[in-house]
Amino acid sequence: MRDSVGTVRTVLLLGGRSEIGLAIVERLVREGAREVVLAARGGVAEPPGALTALGAKVHSLEFDATAADTHTGAVREAVALVGDLDVVVDAFGVLGDQAGYEADPAAAARAAAVNYTGHVSAGLAVAARLREQGHGALVVLSSVAGVRVRRFNFVYGSAKAGLDGFAQGLADSLHGSGARVLVVRPGYVPTRMSAHVDPAPFPATPAQVAAAVSAGLRSGATTVWAPRVLGPVFAGMRLMPRPLWRRLGR
Ligand SMILES: NC(=O)c1ccc[n+]([C@@H]2O[C@H](COP(=O)([O-])OP(=O)(O)OC[C@H]3O[C@@H](n4cnc5c(N)ncnc54)[C@H](OP(=O)(O)O)[C@@H]3O)[C@@H](O)[C@H]2O)c1
Repeated sequence: MRDSVGTVRTVLLLGGRSEIGLAIVERLVREGAREVVLAARGGVAEPPGALTALGAKVHSLEFDATAADTHTGAVREAVALVGDLDVVVDAFGVLGDQAGYEADPAAAARAAAVNYTGHVSAGLAVAARLREQGHGALVVLSSVAGVRVRRFNFVYGSAKAGLDGFAQGLADSLHGSGARVLVVRPGYVPTRMSAHVDPAPFPATPAQVAAAVSAGLRSGATTVWAPRVLGPVFAGMRLMPRPLWRRLGR
């Protein structure tokens, strides 16, 4: 529950080992959050030292993005552990490899289930709880990859496009409830997930993404880009003629 000056006290991270997600949680803990729930496949055995050293109480629970029928229960479990959820961070996802997906359509569908439908069931379960509380924010890790889908990673990009649209609709559905959604659109972020791809222009570190999220939560923004310059860059990218866009590398 936020305190009387609006400080975030409780945070639930869906995708409890995500590097970007943990950077956001750490930032919120530095700013005053005290109870953290890390939700991951098999739970999180060891609470990250950075969080406990900062004085946070860290809980863990089981969460599998592909087990849609467990998502409402996972949200309930988190509430049972820490009470009202001030911030929920949706950070689970898989990048994979486009050529591999084209060679194995079933693997592509499994990735899409994590990157899109998993967020639909988890997002609706979280939103129901936030609406009931009458406050709280859901932070959704979208990506510039979904703003205009590119040939080189269209399996991942199309799921992000779906996720981004879902998150915007969910935000509108919560309008007036006291709860809200913050859509986050990073470009390239050096983490485990992106370790096998070449860096792209305008990168951001997980800490920089976390700073953008923190600022967005404080300002009441509906969308943040990380870094901010990607907003105008992608406004231009959207207008690029298709034949040119098709030939763009990363
Ligand atoms: N890194 C980038 O360049 C970048 C850019 C834009 C957007 N994003 C988005 O930001 C989010 C976080 O990415 P990251 O860079 O922090 O990657 P990361 O460190 O690899 O974290 C992704 C997390 O997703 C979890 N996950 C995968 N499949 C799951 C499933 N079936 N159920 C539950 N959890 C599952 C993984 O869990 P395990 O630990 O169990 O494997 C992992 O902890 C993702 O949505 C990603 O698409 C990343």
